[in-house]
Amino acid sequence: MLKVNDLEITARFSKERLVKGIGFEMGRGETLGLIGESGSGKSLTSKCIMKLLDRRRFSVGGSVSWKGREILGSHAKLPEGYRGRQIAMIMQHPMTAFAPMIRLGRQIELGFDLRSRKAKNDFYESLDAKLRDMNLSDMDKILKSYPAELSGGMLQRVMIAVTILQKPELIIADECTTAVDAASEYMILTELEKLRREGMSMIIVTHDFGVAARLCDNVAVMRQGEVTEYGSTEKVFSSPQDAYTKELAQASLLFREGLC
Ligand SMILES: Nc1ncnc2c1ncn2[C@@H]1O[C@H](COP(=O)(O)OP(=O)(O)OP(=O)(O)O)[C@@H](O)[C@H]1O
Ligand SMILES: [Mg+2]
Repeated sequence: MLKVNDLEITARFSKERLVKGIGFEMGRGETLGLIGESGSGKSLTSKCIMKLLDRRRFSVGGSVSWKGREILGSHAKLPEGYRGRQIAMIMQHPMTAFAPMIRLGRQIELGFDLRSRKAKNDFYESLDAKLRDMNLSDMDKILKSYPAELSGGMLQRVMIAVTILQKPELIIADECTTAVDAASEYMILTELEKLRREGMSMIIVTHDFGVAARLCDNVAVMRQGEVTEYGSTEKVFSSPQDAYTKELAQASLLFREGLC
């Protein structure tokens, strides 16, 4: 379904190679973990798949193909509904994902076809239920708010609820529990686990090996713009070949055991 091959991302201003010829692929219903240290290029890679990178700041090489169709070239036309209906991304920084001057209700409605009264009623009923799954119980207040009136963690959860309701073919979740408290994190992870069981294809971007182990079929470990290890989660975690993966796995284990 998605194939990334020899992807290169270079900052135009500094000429720094930020992503260096990485590749991975995923089939329908698969979950891929993109894991690795801060600054390793996970978000840039995710935005590149969404074709959201600013071409004035970054030059991009290599290939991203979606259902056999190349989408990277500057003249490549994106398939209808590519962003949103086909691939939806939960952004790492929720404050920048919403337009600041428009109430959330209006922004959210834009992503859905709500022309009939019934469609509207059904939509708000399911939005209310999904927000409750995300530990948010006051939908009316949220819809009337401007983004700056909610906390980062609340916005992140609103974005997750809306993304799930869009029912895309692939969800890219970029560190989608960074801004939330432990109870909400648990609810989000439970929701992602449920989506996985229902056959949703997902790219889970995370620092947390435990999260990747629970949610991902395959993992690609990134460091300094390169994929240092790639394979089935079970294989990579049970017998990491690369010294960096070993180090990360060890650090994650120590942290979870409260030893550091
Ligand atoms: N707009 C930008 N201009 C120049 N360099 C950038 C820009 N955005 C990111 N970078 C650089 O690209 C590299 C990769 O950044 P990216 O945001 O993809 O990292 P990440 O793996 O998502 O990290 P984190 O886990 O902290 O979110 C970093 O070195 C970062 O400094
Ligand atoms: Mg990131």
